[in-house]
Amino acid sequence: MSENLIIAEGNKEEKYSTLYPQLKAIVEGESDEIANMANVSACLMDTFGFLWAGFYRVIDGVLVLGPFQGPLACTRIKKGKGVCGTAWQNAETIVVPDVEQFPGHIACSSMSRSEIVVPIFKNGSVSAVLDIDSKELGTFDQTDRIWLEKVATLFSK
Ligand code: SME
Repeated sequence: MSENLIIAEGNKEEKYSTLYPQLKAIVEGESDEIANMANVSACLMDTFGFLWAGFYRVIDGVLVLGPFQGPLACTRIKKGKGVCGTAWQNAETIVVPDVEQFPGHIACSSMSRSEIVVPIFKNGSVSAVLDIDSKELGTFDQTDRIWLEKVATLFSK
């Protein structure tokens, strides 16, 4: 594997379409999930400069903080709590254009203004979530949802 991430110039579609095959190669080339989550967080951060990008894993019935890039984060989130716990409970992606409008949003960082949480499925149930936070309102849309759901499926095996 090349040690250098290639980052496309241009819009987010161009950035994701350059990023995704590199993430696929990284994840398919390494069997350890933590190592892969660490590198995927780093590559998302390098490409987009988000506030926070990382993973929470379902361990003993609670979401536990996994590999991430960005500021200090809360370590445990219960099912149904916050954006992450709601995405887990509903087993679907949640796009939050304005975190202040999401009832029960957990503010790990006061700088977070918008967020997307994408569940990762193993054997039909949620095993982890990919969580990304932005300093700007309305950062995430259908393009992010589609590509990040593809990234999430890399962890389903
Ligand atoms: N905002 C999330 C908590 C995790 S942090 O953003 C890293 C939530 O409401 O679940």
